[in-house]
Amino acid sequence: MRYEPFNRAPNKLFIYLFSTLIMEMLSSIKIEEKKHPNALAYDEKETLNEILNKTGFKREKEIFRGEIIYTNGAKPVTGSILLKGTYKAKPAVLKIQGLRLESSEVEIIKRFEQQNKSRIIHAPTIYQSEEWNAKRGYGFFIMEFVNAPHIYSLPFATSAQMKDFARFYQEYKTKAITKPWIKLEKFNIYSNAQLNDASLLSAVINAVEKWRKNAEAKGRLRFEDYAPYLIRFYPIAARYVPGMKIEFMHRELTQQHIFKLDDGTYKLSSNILWGYRLQWSDLAYNIWFNLLNIKGNSYTADEVIDYTEKWVNIYKMIPIVKRDEDFERKMNFLLTERAIGIIVGDLGSGQYWGSSEGKKYFKHMLRIYQQVFNHFAEKL
Ligand SMILES: Nc1ncnc2c1ncn2[C@@H]1O[C@H](COP(=O)(O)OP(=O)(O)O)[C@@H](O)[C@H]1O
Ligand SMILES: [Mg+2]
Repeated sequence: MRYEPFNRAPNKLFIYLFSTLIMEMLSSIKIEEKKHPNALAYDEKETLNEILNKTGFKREKEIFRGEIIYTNGAKPVTGSILLKGTYKAKPAVLKIQGLRLESSEVEIIKRFEQQNKSRIIHAPTIYQSEEWNAKRGYGFFIMEFVNAPHIYSLPFATSAQMKDFARFYQEYKTKAITKPWIKLEKFNIYSNAQLNDASLLSAVINAVEKWRKNAEAKGRLRFEDYAPYLIRFYPIAARYVPGMKIEFMHRELTQQHIFKLDDGTYKLSSNILWGYRLQWSDLAYNIWFNLLNIKGNSYTADEVIDYTEKWVNIYKMIPIVKRDEDFERKMNFLLTERAIGIIVGDLGSGQYWGSSEGKKYFKHMLRIYQQVFNHFAEKL
């Protein structure tokens, strides 16, 4: 039998007082919610015609639409649009950015490639670009179309695919990142907090608290579905986060952002997401995205936990991971953090889980993710 944190749900006053106390103790910083007043400031049709005319890009179809989800419950708006087509007779992707980002993806890709010493990991080649401009209300770039599958298939990677991910990770960690090109003071894991143990911890807790508030506003979760897990998580975080390292990484090193080409090389997308997170978070994010995409009523918690452990065991064979004696402990914490994130964040207020398809699996997957949480929390 798996360990359950509480037989009965704690009362609401208790969790309120408990979390308020923790927040008071930790809040040396204020996390500012990012506002996106410039979200798709342009007229889509007109903009598209303008770009097609000036670049000669020929559109075939839309492949992706990135939505900005407001935590205050406002209607989601479009951030980015990706179109597949051709550019100078080559298969290409046009990415239109409606948001003014802190730095442009084109600039980031340039900086990444300047320090990248890997021969097998690259960002897509950029053919043409225009920076975001307030008057137009958009920026765009045209890049090569990466005609390759993602590094593994969902919902479950095969052993061979996991080993391939490990190969990729070693190269990414030792050769593709040689010199962080963003300053640590400027970018933090969740915000621009000052970097000391207390604020690192408060950044982690603040994120969880934000998910909790959103989840409570949505009302999908029953109190007993999340409160016991939160109460178990806070003291774990207080014990483990101080003293953890922060590192520069791709902040969503997930299946959907890594392409595997026939020649054995890889291409990385979502390059806007380079920045700082807790050490080994990129490995935890890979598992998080994978777990989130195990959608269905036919899996058991044991299967999902075994699968997660299989990933961790593969990670332990990565040479750079082997050098960290504390890896397992850190990974157990990071996976506990990802699991609480899935419960209160993704299921609690994420878009998919509010959709009719998501609702079909909601209860079943919630139970699974709770067990995943318990499994890793138990080790800490
Ligand atoms: N150059 C490309 N070629 C083919 N598919 C791409 C390319 N760039 C992105 N994609 C696909 O479109 C999706 C969205 O792109 P991404 O860079 O992640 O955008 P965003 O930063 O808005 O999340 C990716 O998950 C990937 O599957
Ligand atoms: Mg993306």
